[in-house]
Amino acid sequence: MKPQIINLPKILDKRGNLSFFEYPNQLPFDIARTYWIYDVPGGEVRGSHAFKEQQEFIVALSGSFDVVLHDGEKEERFCLNRSYHGLYIPKMYWRTLENFSTNSLALIVSDKKYEKNDYIRDFEQFKNLKSAL
Ligand code: TYD
Repeated sequence: MKPQIINLPKILDKRGNLSFFEYPNQLPFDIARTYWIYDVPGGEVRGSHAFKEQQEFIVALSGSFDVVLHDGEKEERFCLNRSYHGLYIPKMYWRTLENFSTNSLALIVSDKKYEKNDYIRDFEQFKNLKSAL
């Protein structure tokens, strides 16, 4: 499955709306870990790495930010600004989060527990590994 925006259910209610995701209906993987990024100062950039094995799904629960994905050859930018849109990111994509709006909140779920050896933090190394796939 390629990187893509997945539309999440939106239960409209005059008391307030509700959205959700669950495996396997909206998410292509079972969740092993959840974390979130918040209080990002203006102009800051998060990420700038790839994962050897881990897949992720990112939702802008509040505010907006861009996720820039690089497949080793070309870049694709996804603007997340709705709490009922999620971005699926397969393993082995270089990913950067930027353009955070004030008070934005990025929810990230992953199919793996935190494993620092799963990170690729050198872009040239990433390109070499990717082209060898
Ligand atoms: P990192 O993944 O590098 O942040 P980002 O990609 O958003 O810039 O993580 C930052 C720090 O937080 C790093 O020292 C590892 C730690 N961390 C955990 O301990 N557990 C986690 O699940 C995550 C995502 C990070």
